[in-house]
Parts: sequence; structure tokens; C-alpha cells
Amino acid sequence: MADNPHVKKLQELRAASRLGGGQDRIDTQHSKGRLTARERLDLLLDKGSFREVDPFTVHRTSDFGLEDQKFLGDSVITGWGTIEGRLVYVFSQDFTVFGGSLGEAHAEKICKIMDMAMKNGAPVIGLNDSGGARIQEGVVSLGGYADIFLRNTMASGVIPQVSAIMGPCAGGAVYSPALTDFIFMTRNTSYMFVTGPDVVKTVTHEDVTQEELGGASVHSEKSGVCHVAADSEADTLFLIRKLLDYLPQNNMEDPPFVPGDDPLRMEEKLNNIIPDDPNKPYDIKEAIRMITDNGQFYEIHENFAQNLVVGFSRLGGHSIGIVANQPAVLAGVLDIDASEKGARFVRFCDSFNIPILTFEDVPGFLPGVNQEHHGIIRSGAKLLYAFCEATVPKLTVITRKAYGGAYCVMSSKHIRGDVNYAWPSAEIAVMGPEGAVNIIFRKELDKAKDPLKKRAELVADYKEKFANPYVAAQRGYIDDVIEPRETRPRLINALEMLSNKRDANPAKKHGNIPL
Ligand code: HXC
Repeated sequence: MADNPHVKKLQELRAASRLGGGQDRIDTQHSKGRLTARERLDLLLDKGSFREVDPFTVHRTSDFGLEDQKFLGDSVITGWGTIEGRLVYVFSQDFTVFGGSLGEAHAEKICKIMDMAMKNGAPVIGLNDSGGARIQEGVVSLGGYADIFLRNTMASGVIPQVSAIMGPCAGGAVYSPALTDFIFMTRNTSYMFVTGPDVVKTVTHEDVTQEELGGASVHSEKSGVCHVAADSEADTLFLIRKLLDYLPQNNMEDPPFVPGDDPLRMEEKLNNIIPDDPNKPYDIKEAIRMITDNGQFYEIHENFAQNLVVGFSRLGGHSIGIVANQPAVLAGVLDIDASEKGARFVRFCDSFNIPILTFEDVPGFLPGVNQEHHGIIRSGAKLLYAFCEATVPKLTVITRKAYGGAYCVMSSKHIRGDVNYAWPSAEIAVMGPEGAVNIIFRKELDKAKDPLKKRAELVADYKEKFANPYVAAQRGYIDDVIEPRETRPRLINALEMLSNKRDANPAKKHGNIPL
């Protein structure tokens, strides 16, 4: 067959297309510690599953000498493949062709596979490595970006969208990843910013490197723009594969079922995980791992707003999203970043039929001028809104403190929690004993001969009355008080009981979450 001239031509064109911007530029890419667009797809997808679309596309620009520089496929590789046998659509920007810059043809290729993904109900994964809008194509490039932004928005809540930043991602180009569900970054070789160090220097006179301004560490710890940061490109791509294990293909499907360990497993250690002193911390992630299938927990935003822990796991084989106050960091208090982190995660789970399990040990919202002035009211309301509107099965376990507004927010019964359990160590009240006694017994304390003794008595009395789960249990605000060790079987049972849950919100164009 190789003698057939038509086939020979096809083979030559394919080989040219596969070479992207040429061997020299591939070598340069490698010398920067980065893989090529195709090497990345090889790592991301099941072996041999990739089917390319549009390998022969070229740009149509003649300005600035571009007529003589055409590369088959232009600067992005698109198509579909599988991850653990499940269909995904992918695009991988090719930095060896015009620095992966986005022009008309590049944008059209991405839009084509996004449209296919929407029609066929499968996730889209974008590997970003680009100098941004192709300067020679002018406004046509900007139009291409806007075409993608619109699709990102239309696909939101319909199919999972994952972005990996594998190199530069600057200017308006950041807004396509920002519209997707999850952003992955690779440490030291990727960065994202709206304006780069040079512009920053001119405008604000700040000296900053690319890494300091928009590297993976900054975005995964400070800004929260990045959901998962990894040390190498291979790790980044591996972690994307692992994430998809927990997600359905689209909003009309349930997530995949993967049987776990014994659903009746009791965990004796849980009975002693809460310290005797209510002000002592413990690590909620330890409890999570004792309860979930095979101790698995795929954490999202691991290093951002660590006072709230969110991530995916399984219970009895069912995929779940976990939202948990973390007593080991800032006593698990809710602040602006934690509220936004939680709200976004809850909304993702609700969009994609993933039940939400909430572990609650929260002293309240973080007091302070800084928090108030930066809008803790608005941010806290986001988390409240997200829990209120969610119609997926919602399970809550109050492990210790459930104080104040935070009690209401953290998936309480009143906002449609389906099954709400408390451990015997739970303290459910308007506020903690010390604060409460200071306010309601101020006069008695002022008059007391021995204020310290009086205070201790009043605190003990308050604790006896309110710092327990039974007042809430008497009213049905929690469904049962359970032994910590039986949490796993009780939750699996509840989840299965809820497997046919139906609930809906009133018909409306869309709500108005306080953004
Ligand atoms: C066309 C581009 C390009 C671009 C890079 N190249 N960016 N071509 N349009 N935007 C080309 C270079 O000419 C070069 O071609 C090749 O890609 C590699 O670029 P280098 O500069 O050699 O690579 P490197 O040193 O690694 O630097 C990478 C870079 C830098 C930091 C990304 O190229 C850069 O600053 N590019 C411009 C970034 C930018 O300002 N983009 C526009 C942002 S505004 P050869 O032929 O030599 O290999 C934007 C608006 C979007 O994106 C708005 C959406 C709403």
C-alpha cells in the first residue's frame, strides 16, 4: 500500500502534522523542562485511545509574512480518547507552533470538540500552553477566545470541564480555564496572570517574577485559582485521570460505582478522636479516612483555605463530595476564602449528582475588621446559598461544635439536610459557653462576690443545658446521636436509603447567588 501515491501523500502530511513546529522547537520545549502537546496527550489518555480531529487545519492569515508559515494542525491538537475506558474530549495547545498562540483556526478546532462534547455528553479537558491571542491575527483571535468563553459557560453544569496549565497562560486567555470546573497547574513550569511582571512593574512599580506573580504555588495557596498543583507534568496529568474516577460523564448521569471495603466496618478509634478539651484541635482528615471506602480522599484546594477541607471520596462504592470544617487549622472557623471554596465545591457536586457529606465542627464565622471589610457577609452567604439550593442527597455529621450562623449554614436540617447525625461530643448552640455566659450573665457576674467561681458555675450550667446534641435531637434538628465508631455503616445506609431521592427548586431562569 505504501506505493500508492495517495496513501504516501497522506502519510507524509500526517508525519508533517505530527511534527508541529519542527524538531528544533520541540527540543527547545524539552529544554524548558516541558513536554510537547502530543506527549502530554499520551500520558493523559489510555494508551492508543486518542483519535485526532483536524490534523490538517491551517491558518488563513497573510499579514506579517504568515502566508509562508503554515503548520498542519495549526497550534492546537484536538480530538477524543478515553480515560479508564470512559470517553473524554481533549485539546492540547502546541507551543512549538507560534508559541501555541490562539488564532481563528485554533479557536475553531477547540470549539468543534467542545460542541461534540456537549452533544455526546462527555468531559472536556484542555491542556493550556500558549502565548495568548495570536498577535498577527488581531481581533479575529479575540473573537476566537470569546467563542470559547461562551461554550465554557454553556457547558458549565452540563459536562465536567477540566483545565491544566502546562506553560504560560496570560491575559484574557486565563478566562477560559477560569470558567471551567477545575484548574490544575504544574509547579515551576506553568503560570497564569492577567497582566505579566513587566506591566505590573510599569503600573504599580512592584518587582515580581512570573512564578511569584502567578505560579502554581501562589494560585494553589493564596488566590485559590488553582484547585490541584503537582510537581511534574506527568503528576498533573495523572491527577486529572484520578479526578475523573469520581465524576459522571455529564449532568444526566450518576457518577461511576466502584465497590469499596466492608460497608459495615466499625472504626473503634473514632470513639476517641475528639479530645476531652473542647478547645483542642484534631485532624478531621484522619476521621474522613477512617470512614470512607479504603480510606480514600481526593482533596481539592488542599493548600488553600485549609480551615475547610473539601474533596471527593466514596462510601459504599458511591462517589461523594465531602465538605468538612478542619479544627486543626484556625479552629475550623469559616472565613471568606473557606466560604468561597466550600460554595464552589458544593455547587459542582450538586450540578453533577454527587451526594454531599458534611462534617461539622465550627466555632462560627471569623470575627475581625479585615473579614467584615472584605465582605464575609457576602462570602458566607455564598456557602449558605450553595447548601440551600443543593438537591443532591445531603448527609451531615456534627462531630463537635455547631455554633451560631455556621450551624445553619453547614447543611443543617432546616436547609434540607436529608440525614443529620451528631456524635455525643456535639455542642449545638447559639455560641460557646464562655461567650454566652459573659453576655447573658453580665450583671450577675458584676455583682458576684467571687466572680471567677460564679462564672465557672454558670459555664458548667450552660454546658449542661446546651453544649450537647440532645436539645437539637429533642426537636428533630438532628435525626440521631450516633457512636463515632458506627459512622461508616450509618452513612452508607443513609446514602443507600436516599438513592432515589427527588427534590427540586422552583422554576426560575436562574437564582441570584450573592457573587
Ligand atoms: C504570535 C507568538 C505569540 C503570540 C509567542 N509567539 N506568543 N506568536 N502571537 N501571542 C511566538 C514567538 O514569536 C516565537 O515564534 C514562539 O511563539 C515562541 O515564543 P518565545 O517568545 O520565543 O518563547 P518564550 O521565550 O518561551 O516566551 C513565551 C512568552 C512570550 C512569555 C509567552 O512569547 C510572550 O510574551 N508572548 C506574547 C504574550 C502576549 O502578550 N500575548 C498576548 C496576550 S493578550 P518563533 O517563530 O520564534 O518560534 C491576550 C488577549 C486574549 O492573549 C484576550 C482574550 C479575551
